[in-house]
Amino acid sequence: MSVGKRLAEVRREAERCRACPLWKGATQTVFGEGPDDARLMLVGEQPGDREDIAGHPFVGPAGRILDEALEISGIDRSTVYLTNGVEHFKYRMRGKRRIHQRPSAGEATACRRWLEAEVAIVEPEVIVALGATAAYSLLGHATPIGPNRGRLLDSELFGAPVLVTTHPSSVLREREREARQEALRALAADLSRASA
Ligand code: URA
Repeated sequence: MSVGKRLAEVRREAERCRACPLWKGATQTVFGEGPDDARLMLVGEQPGDREDIAGHPFVGPAGRILDEALEISGIDRSTVYLTNGVEHFKYRMRGKRRIHQRPSAGEATACRRWLEAEVAIVEPEVIVALGATAAYSLLGHATPIGPNRGRLLDSELFGAPVLVTTHPSSVLREREREARQEALRALAADLSRASA
């Protein structure tokens, strides 16, 4: 079976995933996207509100920051495989708004089978963990971003080296323009390093 067909088959299986309760509140599974022979795989935490509705990873505000960082680092988004450690949106309601909630370790572990399948099929040379939850999905243990960012770490769970960096939404959380620009530059520098 071709790589593309294997990926499509896993995607169909993931659409029916009931391995943790998150499917109940989500619109759909947001499976990874990108070339099935990508050298670089970027892994986020989980789809957000926009991604849950659209069914595609990184199409909301965090996705726009990621696009900016990719552009600064000279990486064409269409050459990268983008996915998440958890593929259903976790949230709580505040009035009519769905507020993002960080997935638990149990939810990340339950969802790891899809990430494992994506990595096994795409066989990226380097995987980037965007933020601490993605790092947990990829490394299997809590990994603080501060002391580890920009480093290539060995994963006992995945065959490829993992570079840990911040999540694009951390750029959005910076209040000052200068700090935002600096956080964006630092994220872009980590992506450049991973792609090199
Ligand atoms: N944040 C993530 O971690 N992943 C997405 O797909 C969107 C926002």
